[in-house]
Amino acid sequence: MICLGIEGTAHSIGVGIVRNNNGNCEVLSNLIKAYRPEKGGIHPREAANHHATNIADLIKESVKKSQIDFSDVDLVSFSSGPGLGPCLRTAATAARALSLSLKKPIIGVNHCVAHLEIGRGTLNDCNDPVLLYTSGANTQVIAFAEGKYRVFGETLDIGIGNCLDKFGRSVGLEFPSGPKIEKLAIKGKKYLELPYSIKGMDIAFSGLLTAAEQYYNNGEKLEDTCYSIQETTFAALTEITERAMAHTEKDEVLLGGGVAANNRLRDMVQTMASERNASFFVPSKDLCVDNGAMIAWLGVLMHNSGVRMKVENSYIDQRFRTDMVDVTWRD
Ligand code: ATP
Ligand code: FE2
Repeated sequence: MICLGIEGTAHSIGVGIVRNNNGNCEVLSNLIKAYRPEKGGIHPREAANHHATNIADLIKESVKKSQIDFSDVDLVSFSSGPGLGPCLRTAATAARALSLSLKKPIIGVNHCVAHLEIGRGTLNDCNDPVLLYTSGANTQVIAFAEGKYRVFGETLDIGIGNCLDKFGRSVGLEFPSGPKIEKLAIKGKKYLELPYSIKGMDIAFSGLLTAAEQYYNNGEKLEDTCYSIQETTFAALTEITERAMAHTEKDEVLLGGGVAANNRLRDMVQTMASERNASFFVPSKDLCVDNGAMIAWLGVLMHNSGVRMKVENSYIDQRFRTDMVDVTWRD
């Protein structure tokens, strides 16, 4: 089975095509186009316009790059949430149009679950991981328990990526600021004490963000501030991930989301995993960030397990929670 997946929950629009190879995910193509606001944060309608402008060409390009014909596509999937309403609607509309014109089934999938399943589908020995999902808008610790993907811990305010981007914006770094903060942090030497807010397995960043901005405004070096932000937030993320692993008795950890590109975060989580004799997994960068291939792969899993959706029922849900998904494809 070949599935074409469309991802458009936030600032990027992605089209991926995957083939089911005896239960493993073979990625045939995975194209992403990101909307970059000229200044400030993402404006949902502008991002949606960007997606609408680019989606038709991306679909054509991805079919060409996969060296298949449109008639080879067996299934069309799209991310039905969570995300920004206008962006979700644009991606869903494209998926519906494609499904109708190709006369192939359509399926809407949960974006967060897709981040986890792409790891299981593409990485050898990654079978039952705890996912630390760190992106712009999302920060969640997710694992499979009692028939569902459950959120064991999550941010109580903003996502870690948003925290980094907001700090970056306030000190004049370009969007996205995560990679720039990573480079600056390497040169940081002095650790500045920042609020470390964990409640159970939940986490919060806004107090830390304000405190970090104050340090910088009071003359602390940008490098030291970036270093301290990373050390504090990543340690907290590693801690809640470890707690979820202990709680669920799982011995695999998987990273997902754009912030998983950060080497310091990878190092911390990997160290924690090795101390627990657990396996550490991180997909390639193009499969970590928001991408169409992960949406396509979850479409395959759901379709194979018997899930069917009519075009007229292919809704979007801006607040589609991870634990609302009926996991029909796992025992
Ligand atoms: P979602 O809709 O799932 O919340 P998103 O639209 O924010 O995702 P992603 O591509 O998953 O998109 O993540 C983008 C985030 O990742 C940005 O906040 C960016 O600053 C951050 N990021 C990217 N590279 C790095 C890095 N090397 N270090 C830290 N953060 C990074
Ligand atoms: Fe994401």
